[in-house]
This record gives sequence, C-alpha cells and structure tokens, in this order.
Amino acid sequence: MLRIEGYVIVSADGMIADANGEMPDAIRNDADQRFFQAGLDRVAAVVHGRHSHEGGPRAARRKRLILTRQIADLAPDTTHPNSLLWNPVGAPLERALEALGVGDGTIAVIGGTEVFSMFLPRYDAFHLSRAADARIPGGRPVFAAVGPNATPEDVLASHGLKPGPRRQLDAAAGVTVATWQR
Ligand SMILES: NC(=O)c1ccc[n+]([C@@H]2O[C@H](COP(=O)([O-])OP(=O)(O)OC[C@H]3O[C@@H](n4cnc5c(N)ncnc54)[C@H](OP(=O)(O)O)[C@@H]3O)[C@@H](O)[C@H]2O)c1
Repeated sequence: MLRIEGYVIVSADGMIADANGEMPDAIRNDADQRFFQAGLDRVAAVVHGRHSHEGGPRAARRKRLILTRQIADLAPDTTHPNSLLWNPVGAPLERALEALGVGDGTIAVIGGTEVFSMFLPRYDAFHLSRAADARIPGGRPVFAAVGPNATPEDVLASHGLKPGPRRQLDAAAGVTVATWQR
C-alpha cells in the first residue's frame, strides 16, 4: 500500500516563495521545521521538483525522487545520494519508486508549486502549515489555482480532502498546522 502525504508552509496569502523563487525568512520557522523533519523521518521516500529540498542533517539518508524534464524517464542523480531524477511523462510514480527500491509505505511530496498541484488527486493527507503574519504579494502559490479567488483550503477541499483541527506550532510567531485527510 502506497500512502501519499504533502508538507508545506504557506504565508497568509497562500505563497511558498517570493516572485524570484526564494523562500523568505518570514515563512521559515523552527517549530515548523521540527514538525516537517520529524514527518520526513517516518517516510519511505521524499518527492520534489529540481528547485526544492528539505535540507537538514538527515536529508542525505532519505531516498528521493527529483522531478525534472531534462531526462526522458528515470536517471541516476550524481549530486544527491539515494536519489533518482524522474520525469513523470516517461515513467509512472510506481515505476519510479520501484527503481528507487521503495515498495509499500508513505511518500512525502514537498513542492514546489507544480509538484504540489500534480499530486492533488492522490494525497491521502496534506499537512498545511501557515505563517499567519507573513504576506508575499506576487509570490509563488502552493497550488497553481491559489490566487485572489481561491485559498489553499479551497483547493484542498475541491479535491476531496477534509480539514483536521488547526494546531499551534509556534503561538508567538503565529504559525499553525492543519492536516487535511481524504
Ligand atoms: N514554503 C514551502 O513549504 C516550500 C515548499 C517547496 C518549495 N519551496 C520554495 O519554492 C521555491 C521553488 O519552487 P518551484 O515551484 O520554483 O520549484 P520546484 O518544483 O522545486 O522545481 C521546479 C522544477 O522542477 C521540475 N518539475 C516541476 N514539475 C515537473 C513535472 N511535472 N515534470 C517534470 N519536471 C518537473 C522542473 O525542473 P527542470 O527545469 O529541470 O525541468 C522545474 O523547473 C524554492 O524557493 C523553495 O525553497 C517552499
């Protein structure tokens, strides 16, 4: 059984990065990082686009798929240990995971925008952290459909996910998390 979970921290306006593709300090938070890294420690593999990475001291140990269109289907990654480059047009997720040596278990999808959006029909759970005091006008949204007429919550609900309670991660910094489940 494969289980797919998403992890993100967004600004109040649903952004993951600024217009230049940089993640600003306003949405970086130590308590959220601890929540995120502990979640990733439990998964069989991490999946992200070529410009994303979770960082931290345990990253090199984790198996990962890195999405890129620079290859046809699957290829070794010479820059990250335990990683494969993956183009979903050429290989379905299940084949990519098999090549990575992952069968059953949970995979964590950690961005960016296009990758978060691609998995919307498949999430079993999505951990939506929010830095309520931060706004990133003109930034990059968590999902392509987020904007003046749609919040991240609207998008998750429209794909059949239901919210759990919003929990404090860092009350002083206004950072919370809610886990949405299918
Ligand atoms: N706030 C958060 O929780 C959070 C989460 C994730 C990322 N971020 C931040 O967001 C920024 C990066 O986000 P991003 O959306 O620009 O980048 P990204 O998804 O990490 O990387 C984009 C690249 O991934 C590849 N890619 C994406 N979708 C693909 C698909 N369907 N098929 C094949 N390849 C695909 C492409 O690589 P090629 O160009 O090689 O084809 C594309 O140029 C960074 O600053 C990062 O720190 C923040």
